[in-house]
This record gives sequence, structure tokens and C-alpha cells, in this order.
Amino acid sequence: MTKTTIIAPANIAFVKYWGRRNDNLILPLNPSVSMNMSGCTTTTSCEWGEWEEDSIKIKFKGKEMVEASGAAREKALKVIDRVREKLGTKFRVRIESENNFPEATGIASSASGFSALTKALYESFDASLSEKEMTIETRLSGSGSACRSIPDGFVVWDKGDNDDGSDSYAYSIAPAKHWELVDLVCVVDIGNKKVSSGEGHVRPKNEYMQARLRNIESRVSETISAIKEKDLEKLGVVTEIEAMSLHTVCMMSEPPIFYLNGATFEVMATIRELRKKGIMAYYTMDAGANVHVITEMQYLPEVKSALSKIDKVVMMIENVSTNGARIL
Ligand code: PMV
Repeated sequence: MTKTTIIAPANIAFVKYWGRRNDNLILPLNPSVSMNMSGCTTTTSCEWGEWEEDSIKIKFKGKEMVEASGAAREKALKVIDRVREKLGTKFRVRIESENNFPEATGIASSASGFSALTKALYESFDASLSEKEMTIETRLSGSGSACRSIPDGFVVWDKGDNDDGSDSYAYSIAPAKHWELVDLVCVVDIGNKKVSSGEGHVRPKNEYMQARLRNIESRVSETISAIKEKDLEKLGVVTEIEAMSLHTVCMMSEPPIFYLNGATFEVMATIRELRKKGIMAYYTMDAGANVHVITEMQYLPEVKSALSKIDKVVMMIENVSTNGARIL
């Protein structure tokens, strides 16, 4: 057993994971497709030993490294306890985790955080898991979307059909270098989101969810072929429809969930205006108000210049496709 450090990216989904068919096994209602984000990463080190208790330290950009407390500690401990049981050990861990993006950006750190933690726990124990097994273990960490941060580049997470979840795993459909696609995260809301995605996944279903699921398989195929063909327009059109489908389901849940705010719509309108001028850029939003603008390098200067004129845009973070979780 050796101290091991893992760096893992966040990921942005073009086809989103929303809703679970099994809560304990984190089995999704639908397959999802994503890209790893180069500019939003978590670096986590892990060491196993015969200590009295676990130590879990977290550091956010510009802040001191502190012992984790509250919900963050509980979530990490749940993962650690599960892996400890799986490995059949009584050893304790020393974890140190660092995010390269500021804490209060409202950018979800769960995918990078949970994929880095899961891989660090196994790798530092010298447990040899295949990539497929690692994605399944990461899926079980609680943040299902984190499993898409394990494989490289552009990734699909199959929903699987088996009741035991053995066929619900993530794999790469194209390497990071395949396409220098940009995800410019346009931060418009630095507050914490009110309804966590975990809570959203189990909100009572509604008639819109059925409509969403009817179309999802064709959106997944369309997205995969757009990525393979490096066709930005094809990808952008399906990505925007897909984001609206997710947020419609959220707004039609009981009680409703509103993630988007006025600034989100302002950014979306700006992107649509840019397209009229031939600047190819598209938008998608996760469980929050911040907008992920999907574009290519050649359009980036004009996209940034237009978005920087919007008052409510507090920060922009540039990402291209990158590799999945790896040992540093
Ligand atoms: O993995 P979770 O439970 O944090 O849920 C992620 C949900 C979305 O970000 C909205 C969609 C996705 O597929 O990433």
C-alpha cells in the first residue's frame, strides 16, 4: 500500500442523467453522454494505515486546507466505509483533497470530487480494478455522474438493464484529443443551489418525464454521432433541446424545482444572437443557473467578448476535453 494521488476532472453532460430507477445502486433512468472538463479538477491523495480514525482534509482554491465537517465529511465517510468493507480491511485513511476552482462558484464539484476519492481509495490500496469496475464503484459513490469522470475524453454512461447494476457503467467513445471542443462555464450564480441533484433524482415523476424518456435514446445516438463526426451544429442543437427537456421536467416536478434564473436566460439569448452572426455556440445547464457554453476555439474570443458585457456574469472558466481520472 502506497500513498497515491489522483487528479480527476468534472464533466459536462450533453445528454443528462436525471432520475433513478434504483436509489441504492444509483441506477439511472436513462443513458447519458458527457465530456471531461480540463479546467475544473479535483486532486485527491489517499494513504491507508493503522490509525485511530480517518482524516479527511479539503482545500478550496485560495483557502487553507481544513478537516472536512458537516455534510461534506459525511458523504466522504460513506464512500470510505463502503470501500473499506469491500476491501475487507479495518485500516483507516488519510485523505487530502484540493479543488482548482473556487468554492463559491456554484460549479458542481461532486463529479471530480467523488471520482478522485473513489479511485484514490482503490489505487492506494493497490487493488487492481479494471476501468469498467472503477466506473461502477464510482457510480456507487453517490454522485452517479462522477462515473463519467473516470474514462478519457468523451464518455457514455449506459443505464444498463440488470437489476444488480453490473451493466451500468461508463466508457470512452472518443479520446480527449479527438476534438478540441470548448466548454466555457459562464458563472452567473455563486450561491449554493437550493435543491441538490440527489434530491432532484428522486422527486415524484410527472408526465413530462415520460415524454423525455421516449426521446432519449435517439438523442443519445444523435449526440454520439455528432461527437464522432465533430459536428458542432448537430451536437449543439441536440444539447440545447436536451437541457430544456431536463429543466422542463424539473419545473414540472412536485414540488417544482427552478434552477435557472434571469441571468441564465440573458446568457442564452446572447448565445442565440451570436449564432445569427455565424458564431457557432450553444448552451446547456445542469442543476444550477450557470451556463455551459459549448463552442470551438475559433469562436471563443467573440463568445467571451459578448458574454463579458453581461453584468451578471461574474466569472468564465475555459475548458477543453481532457483525460479521465488518473494517477499523478
Ligand atoms: O451525479 P449527480 O447526482 O450529481 O447528478 C448530476 C445531474 C446533472 O448534473 C444535472 C446531469 C448530469 O448528467 O451531469
